[in-house]
Amino acid sequence: MGPVVPPTLRFVLCGSVDDGKSTVIGRLLHDCRQVSSDELTRIERDSARYGTQGMAADLALLVDGLRDEREQGITIDVAYRSFETPRRRFIVADAPGHEQYTRNMATGGSTADLAVVLVDARKGVLPQTARHTRIAAMFGVCHVVLAVNKMDLVEWDRDIFESIRVSYGGIAGEVGLSAIEAIPVSALTGANLTRNSASAPWYDGPTLLAHLETVVVEESPGGQPFRMPVQYVNRPHADFRGYCGRVAAGAVAVGDAVRISPAGTESRVASILVGNRTRHRAGRGDAVTLTLAPDVDVTRGDVVVDADEAIEVADQFQARLVWMHDEPLAVGRPYVMKLHSREVGAAVTRIRHRLDVSNGNELAASVLHLNDLGTVNLVTNRPVPFAPFDESRALGGFILIDRATNATAAAGTIAFPLMRAANVKWQHMDVSKDVRSRLKLQRAQCVWLTGMSASGKSTIANLLDRRLTVEGRHTYLLDGDNVRHGLCRDLGFTEADRVENIRRVAEVARLMVDAGLIVIVSFISPFRSERDYARSLFEPGEFKEVFVDASLEVCAERDPKGLYAKALRGEIRNFTGVDSPYERPEHPDLHLNTEELSPAECIDLLSHTLD
Ligand code: ADX
Repeated sequence: MGPVVPPTLRFVLCGSVDDGKSTVIGRLLHDCRQVSSDELTRIERDSARYGTQGMAADLALLVDGLRDEREQGITIDVAYRSFETPRRRFIVADAPGHEQYTRNMATGGSTADLAVVLVDARKGVLPQTARHTRIAAMFGVCHVVLAVNKMDLVEWDRDIFESIRVSYGGIAGEVGLSAIEAIPVSALTGANLTRNSASAPWYDGPTLLAHLETVVVEESPGGQPFRMPVQYVNRPHADFRGYCGRVAAGAVAVGDAVRISPAGTESRVASILVGNRTRHRAGRGDAVTLTLAPDVDVTRGDVVVDADEAIEVADQFQARLVWMHDEPLAVGRPYVMKLHSREVGAAVTRIRHRLDVSNGNELAASVLHLNDLGTVNLVTNRPVPFAPFDESRALGGFILIDRATNATAAAGTIAFPLMRAANVKWQHMDVSKDVRSRLKLQRAQCVWLTGMSASGKSTIANLLDRRLTVEGRHTYLLDGDNVRHGLCRDLGFTEADRVENIRRVAEVARLMVDAGLIVIVSFISPFRSERDYARSLFEPGEFKEVFVDASLEVCAERDPKGLYAKALRGEIRNFTGVDSPYERPEHPDLHLNTEELSPAECIDLLSHTLD
């Protein structure tokens, strides 16, 4: 398939308010007559109040009703506007320019075909220009328009324009962008935006709008094999099962042999629906419903692929991330990864480096903060079908979701798989967990006690262990202080170390449950994400989260090890409850308030929750 001119061009406009970003969008909308006369009246009225152009209508005020922007003079979020000319429809993402909005820029860039990078002719190429360009390149935007704005303020000086073009070319070349169109414009007067300007006779290229109308956005190399991630399984009645999704690459026709990844099962395409119409064939970008014969097992998140062209499957990757969360990235912390339509557990095992976006330098880093860009090693808890992002945005772009808040923590792109893990296979064992627990006449499970130091966890854990042993059950007790003498002796109390501490203990507890034991875990485990992760390792009902609760005052008063006294004197750092947080469980399976209940009462309550 050769180059195509899509009916819709998505682009992201990068630059700061000072560069004239909103004025550019306003002017495009206005000149394409996408503004009603009512809206114009409102703008004329508001211009007098908020505008920066005296009484003349300030076209910047056309941009989506972002009140904060008008009142503070900055753009705060990604606003999408659409407009059209007879030749094309446009969707423009207006991404804020300031450094603290890198994440918005990434959001806008992730779906764009093209980026318009605005530069103020008086200021030239700034660090932020480089940042925008790197982010755009990272998210697969290959086409860039360098719009050198405010040319009227430098008397349309050709030398200024040329020197900006050259210095921008250097940055673009560094990040591998070659399709650059440089246009001198004045957003305020509209020159070279929607009509050619007599002020710059030396410029004989297209206006910004004309370029956007005609630019050819190439499809990724033709002849790619067919790939379609299944977004949902449509089962209106027992006789029909359709697999819905958007064709991410290649094409498919009725009768084609396909394979379901990662399972590897084979089938054939029986019918193709696009909308309500039956079709013989569908190609990249089409939203389709496929039926298969024979009807094999397919679930959401699987990828239907060409039977002869396997898709790569892996569970360890090198990836690039834009960190978008207020909470920094914790190495080892389990996040939810959403890659095409698949959701899996994922953790960063190592930060390879952080990128200095203004000059491209790779810096050593142990955390990524809000708006940082970094290259990391990532591991998923199940193998995922994917393609490197360079080959397919749809199959190689992902987000990480914070388990505790459900917020998007990062946007990322897969660079390549790390093969080490692909050579480690899961070994089947004939003796199952069920057999092991039945031999012990019990249901294997994990009782997870969480709470601050001195809340009473160890006392309760120990008593429960004794009671169960006396009853003839097979148990084991994992206690924070003890495990930290061996398995976790290399770990301290920083956030990252606690995350790793809990990950190890959760894995050990799972192995012990697999061995048929009742495992009692007694760890502060202060973070919700890790407790949720621990739960995710077990089958439903196998994991009981028990909140051992006492107020900080009471814990500090009990202080059996004298640690609160030391922490309060500043002799111990990162002490839970003092200068390190404890996130209270929101929905524990059992809540034990040890200020009100005796240890014996706690044990009684606990025994009832055990199966
Ligand atoms: S956790 O946060 O990673 O779950 P864990 O339960 O293993 O902690 O260890 C907590 C025990 O370590 C406490 O009971 C206490 O005896 C000891 N300790 C030493 N320093 C600290 C500290 N800074 N914060 C909390 N506990 C500490």
